Amino acid sequence: VAESIRRLEIRGAPAIGVAAAYALVLAVQDHASPDAGTPERRFREAVSHLATTRPTAVNLFTALKRMQTCFEAIRTTDPLRIHESLLGEARAIERDDREACAAIARYGAPLLKGVSAVLTHCHTGSLATAGGGTALNIIIEAATRGRLKRVYVDETRPLLQGARLTTWELMQHGIDAVLITDSSAGFVMQQRNTEAVLVGADRIAANGDTANKIGTYGLAVLAEKHGIPFYVAAPVSTIDPELASGGEIPIELRAPEEITHLRGVQIAPSGVSVYAPAFDVTPHGLITAIVTDKGVLYPPFDEAIRTVSKAGAANVERTV
Ligand code: MRU
Repeated sequence: VAESIRRLEIRGAPAIGVAAAYALVLAVQDHASPDAGTPERRFREAVSHLATTRPTAVNLFTALKRMQTCFEAIRTTDPLRIHESLLGEARAIERDDREACAAIARYGAPLLKGVSAVLTHCHTGSLATAGGGTALNIIIEAATRGRLKRVYVDETRPLLQGARLTTWELMQHGIDAVLITDSSAGFVMQQRNTEAVLVGADRIAANGDTANKIGTYGLAVLAEKHGIPFYVAAPVSTIDPELASGGEIPIELRAPEEITHLRGVQIAPSGVSVYAPAFDVTPHGLITAIVTDKGVLYPPFDEAIRTVSKAGAANVERTV
């Protein structure tokens, strides 16, 4: 599972967290081989291993922490009962994410009332979560409810999550998906072809600064320039209130081959220097609103995030 996460076979912040939780269940289950060690040793080794897979999406660490808390509360050495408790917690993490996706769609869809076309980046749908998705779930809900007809989809260089996954999910729902290169987004906005930009998030700092797929920051700057609202959608589990601002968010660097090669074919000269950040950080001042499973957060985000982090299950319908 760790290798699948590292290679992006399992990807998208919420899906990474859910998969990591189940990976810990598999780790304690592996007690057949004689040198497998105690469940505790296997569990702790698996936690350390999973924590090295991808540094930016905080859902991974939130899920590992929940599983650790669960493990520490277990008062038995019976491997079957340990397994049962961990499986219960992994299922709860999965269920929480499924419910969060549904709530995000419910809170977010009214923001697109009267909007006929939006632009999105990367992939935030059902293949990236345990439920219907985050930003993409809002888009699907808005299309089901009303006027939203067309979605411009950035291909999302270099791994093409937009081209491969977002277009496919939208087409499954019968929504008009228009695939564009990442560099076409400015022109699409200038031509007034999109009325809003919606993206997901991998980690949101206490002040609202948001890490998301590389290219997101550029879209936010373009949206501001063209007077278009820029919405972020993510469950509260993607908020990291321990980080004061986006400058503290660890940004994953990917292997140079992801840029120098296309499906195994080399397209750049051998030996060229490469800089391949997987994510960028959008400053909170460029974000119109953050749609969470507890409600829609508006600036000032530091206040809204403090309230929502403390509120637990309480709804924060609108925090101004
Ligand atoms: O590198 P990826 O494909 O895991 O990056 C995914 C994103 O940036 C998504 O926007 C984010 O994880 C939210 S998925 C609901």
